[in-house]
Amino acid sequence: MNKVEHPGKKRVGVLISGTGSNMKMLAQAGQEDDYPAEVCLVISDKRDVKGLQTAQDMGIKALAIPKKDYASKADHESAILAALDEANLDYVCLAGFMRILSGDFIKKWSGKLINIHPSLLPLFPGLHTHDRAIEAGCKVHGCSVHFVTEGMDEGPIIAQAVVPVLPGDDADSLAGRVLKTEHILYPQVLKQLASGHVRMTEDEKAEFSEDLIGEDKPDQSRYLIS
Ligand code: GRF
Repeated sequence: MNKVEHPGKKRVGVLISGTGSNMKMLAQAGQEDDYPAEVCLVISDKRDVKGLQTAQDMGIKALAIPKKDYASKADHESAILAALDEANLDYVCLAGFMRILSGDFIKKWSGKLINIHPSLLPLFPGLHTHDRAIEAGCKVHGCSVHFVTEGMDEGPIIAQAVVPVLPGDDADSLAGRVLKTEHILYPQVLKQLASGHVRMTEDEKAEFSEDLIGEDKPDQSRYLIS
């Protein structure tokens, strides 16, 4: 059974493809009384993934909408969009969602759609980011939360977290270190967004409220150094 939802909180949908550990952190944050958003819907493009079970166990509506059930990418996206509309959401978070969304989809959610990516963008868009960071000899690596725009992993960056690349790291050890910071950063950014402290401007820039009032100390939720 779905949990009782809280009027007054922004309604958030999360798209996943697998484990859903970032989704879980967003959902847990949403259960705090003073957090301005709550996860009301989780959609996976794969059946039987751990993230769907996690959402269900937390009393969150969880849907599998697999691509193979639809004749085309457009039909698949229409099904996802219909489910998002029906849930009456304010924001959508991509969290390990392994599909490239079409321009039409992105336009419909412009400014309300964010993603977490496991690299310090604009470095290493796309896949295998941890291998690529090690291969490139990077001494630091991390993750980025950004508004989603049409270019893959190119939208305006809202916040980033930085971790060291240690001697002897392989992709798994580095991924684990980055994932720990993803779990801190993503709920911080959703809080900023849902409370109106950051928005995407028409020319696709991330604009922070403290910049508008000339605050000289940027909010620390824009970066996390561990
Ligand atoms: C995370 O590293 C995320 O940044 C990337 O895929 C991974 C998903 O992990 N896009 P989870 O499903 O949130 O556990």
